[in-house]
Amino acid sequence: MRSRLSVALNVAQDVGKFVMNHQNSIREIKRKSSPVDLVTDVDKEAQEMIIKELSSRFPQDLFWGEESGYPLEDFSSTWVIDPIDGTSNYIHNLPLYGVSIAYLREEEPRIGVLEFPRLGETFWAEKGKGAFLNGEKIRVSRIKEAHRAIVGTGFPREVGEWELMEPAYAQIVTKCQALRSLGSAALGVAYVACGRLEGYLQLGLSFYDVAAGVCLVGEAGGEIKELEGKEWSVRSRSSLATNSEIELERFLT
Ligand code: IPD
Repeated sequence: MRSRLSVALNVAQDVGKFVMNHQNSIREIKRKSSPVDLVTDVDKEAQEMIIKELSSRFPQDLFWGEESGYPLEDFSSTWVIDPIDGTSNYIHNLPLYGVSIAYLREEEPRIGVLEFPRLGETFWAEKGKGAFLNGEKIRVSRIKEAHRAIVGTGFPREVGEWELMEPAYAQIVTKCQALRSLGSAALGVAYVACGRLEGYLQLGLSFYDVAAGVCLVGEAGGEIKELEGKEWSVRSRSSLATNSEIELERFLT
């Protein structure tokens, strides 16, 4: 029997091609929780394709998908799927979006696969086996100094959350080399894992946006927590991923 990682890699790459090939022929865009929280027909079809393939190979496993209404709370042996992370970018024909597949055991991300089809990059990691980008082992950057660091973020969509983050943004913009919002949290966290960013932080983020990235960053020598410093879990609503060298916490007080 093929391993979960190899099946997840194949399906992420196949579905990545499907998603990319449909970027100019989206048929339906619907709002979810707000006018800026969107889903397309391609997100839904991509999720179905992923679950169909994984469930035929691993019928005993459970499946949690961003586009399926979130009924499941059992993460004992569970796949967590975000078929297109960066849906707004996708709708605007930007290339910064990807397919995210994570496998969790007892709530812990054990496998993470991120496929960015327009960028030609596939990231993957398995607990205890390292993190890879297109087959090459990756690790986080060693930069410690804020003025040499580029930090990624996703801007919160709620006014209250924005007000909470504003002082931190001001600190980061003035003390670090740059603050970047890429429009895909999965991409931001993957970039921490491969050393392109020193950190990524976001308030108002759900676990499925970063579940694959949690495994990736850990295996690449970095760390991921909540913004308040608590250990990351599937119940977290914020994430702070770093290369474990840079102290971004001091900008968050
Ligand atoms: C979104 C992206 C974005 C982040 C949002 C997420 P989606 O995911 O990760 O970067 O800022 O909070 O909802 O909806 O495109 O899968």
